[in-house]
Amino acid sequence: MFVKQIEPGTPEADRRFRRLIALESADWMPVPRPRCLGWDAESGLLVYELVTPARDGRQLADDGDFDEATAGRLGRLVAELHDAPSPHWLDVSAPRLPPLGELDALPLAVYRNACAAELELWRLLQGDEALVAALKRLCAVPDALRTPAHCDLRLDQFVLGGGDVRLVDWDELRLADPARDIGAFAGEWLYRSTWDIAGADADHEAVVARGAARFAEVRPLVRSFWRAYREVRREPDDGLGRRAAAFAGWHQFDRVLAAAEGQSRLRPVERAALGIGRALVLDPGRFADTVGLTA
Ligand SMILES: Nc1ncnc2c1ncn2[C@@H]1O[C@H](COP(=O)(O)OP(=O)(O)O)[C@@H](O)[C@H]1O
Ligand SMILES: [Mg+2]
Repeated sequence: MFVKQIEPGTPEADRRFRRLIALESADWMPVPRPRCLGWDAESGLLVYELVTPARDGRQLADDGDFDEATAGRLGRLVAELHDAPSPHWLDVSAPRLPPLGELDALPLAVYRNACAAELELWRLLQGDEALVAALKRLCAVPDALRTPAHCDLRLDQFVLGGGDVRLVDWDELRLADPARDIGAFAGEWLYRSTWDIAGADADHEAVVARGAARFAEVRPLVRSFWRAYREVRREPDDGLGRRAAAFAGWHQFDRVLAAAEGQSRLRPVERAALGIGRALVLDPGRFADTVGLTA
């Protein structure tokens, strides 16, 4: 068995738990996921069938075994999810991230609990008017373009075993811009590439150029994912690739936000990731091809 706990008691945790229960109660299965055997709302425990032997996408990437065929399989799977008719119980609330409210001002409790690296990041974000405006535009996609979307699609959310791919961690599932999931996939590879940039004290343009060169090595994986996605997806909208590139940019902020928790400062490599992310959010059309999301 695979047991996981979402510690109850905060509104956020309760929403996450509720979304999972709605999914499992409806037995909605647009793409494969591990079977849920039961849950207990009081303790926030959920029990799943253990997929074994298995490796997740991140382990596969670390082992050097994430190939174009794998990327293509994941692209098809994500397209099937986005093509699924939206069930009536699906959460239609806005995703928690990008945190549009916090881009303007932090609630006092968040400010008080933030560590120095988080405050450094919030200061960067809130002081960047162009970035904040671009993120707000990005999140204002018309309802008609929204589809069922996973909304937390990192490489480790794909569990591969026994010849199958299963998607896990459905607690952000909702009706949302499908570009979020595509962008997260591309953004994962972008973030991994950035970690290879040494001496990130170079100026912004140089960092972007070096990141792009590094990324060129894994770009075929994003291209393969995106090609397979479009082969399966019925009527993707024209702006999907461009918005996905922008969300790949946002993903750098998402990852750094998670990494900053508990740190006393942002590391140079994290600042480099933010610079690359910013370039993508501000001008996704210019960099879509660079990240493998060619129109
Ligand atoms: N049913 C399962 N069988 C085998 N491995 C799993 C299963 N569910 C999740 N995992 C693995 O455990 C990791 C963490 O599980 P996940 O549900 O994503 O929790 P978290 O909320 O901590 O990200 C996943 O990235 C995946 O590698
Ligand atoms: Mg997870």
